[in-house]
Amino acid sequence: MTELTFTRTPATRLPDAEREAVLADPGFGKRFTDHMISIVWDREQGWHDAEVLPYGPIPMDPASSVLHYGQEIFEGLKAYRHPNGDIVTFRPEANAQRLNESAARLALPELPVELFVQAIRELVTVDADWVPSGHDQSLYLRPFMIADESFLGVRAAERARFMVIASPAGPYFTGGVKPVSIWLSGEHARAGRGGTGAAKCGGNYASSLLPTRIAAQHGCAQVLFTDSATEDTIDELGGMNLFLVHRDGRLVTPELNGNILDGITRKSLIRLAQDRGLTVEERKVTVGEWRAGAADGSITEAFACGTAAVITPIGQLKSEQGVLVDFGDRAPGELTMSLRDELTGIQFGTVADRFGWVERI
Ligand code: PLP
Ligand code: COI
Repeated sequence: MTELTFTRTPATRLPDAEREAVLADPGFGKRFTDHMISIVWDREQGWHDAEVLPYGPIPMDPASSVLHYGQEIFEGLKAYRHPNGDIVTFRPEANAQRLNESAARLALPELPVELFVQAIRELVTVDADWVPSGHDQSLYLRPFMIADESFLGVRAAERARFMVIASPAGPYFTGGVKPVSIWLSGEHARAGRGGTGAAKCGGNYASSLLPTRIAAQHGCAQVLFTDSATEDTIDELGGMNLFLVHRDGRLVTPELNGNILDGITRKSLIRLAQDRGLTVEERKVTVGEWRAGAADGSITEAFACGTAAVITPIGQLKSEQGVLVDFGDRAPGELTMSLRDELTGIQFGTVADRFGWVERI
């Protein structure tokens, strides 16, 4: 059995005028819709008790294992409103599969892909009024799974809960599509060989918070993490993958080396670029190569990509040593912007979906 019947407990809806006021300027991750999804798992029954509930606090025992040992994973995807009013999601099965890869690494139970997609549909359907229609706006969906057994022994929990919450979202970086500065993390690593770098688990983000705070003190919006051994091989940003663009149109992005997230935006952009006949190199990339290429003009653009960030041009790379890469005050790069327009066009229904990536709710 891969699908379940959801029990529905309707919420008191936020009055239309208040919801519209939120949707007019949603920001990112600040307000949540009227409902949420909860599905429980235990070793005896498997997945059960699938519910659509009013959004709100969940009961949790103080001994719940997630609170002590951080056994948690999450996903991020968006629902978009098309010009004809249809609501779609983008490659939700890819998120479901990645959740299961994270689950395997964190010793959490796998969730059938169909049940993940069903849960997304249930929530977006009941809270359809919350999908905004403004430019670059969407409903950000946050599926997550927590270990929820009251037991302090250190072992994989035998009880877990999968939930989905939703939050109307505008751009992750405020101020329109303009280049951001990023900070090279020196001493603070995000992942190491054999660790959880390729999983989307809360612990990876917890360890990125201190370097992110340091980055912010230097006017940088994200941290660039390198491989902890060399401090030169580029992994990814705290919440995004990275691409470098060569003058000859070649794109270079760090290979999936076990330390970085297999981003769905990343893989979609690789496909779009290859479909244009461009060469995409997935390989080891170093900070040294980026600096040299930016200095001699062979690397002309850099961008970060992810569900929340979409595609965000990078203007500068900074570190304790000063500015390492500076693309100056130039407008966002041409290829960066045209890939961004194509991807968002597919998501928002203004460009043909020739790969079958969008799914109608
Ligand atoms: N890398 C990290 C660490 C992330 O948190 C994200 C965001 O989800 C990404 C990359 C990009 O992944 P995706 O494009 O699937 O959102
Ligand atoms: C996403 O892009 O969905 C992320 O998870 C990145 C971040 C906002 C946590």
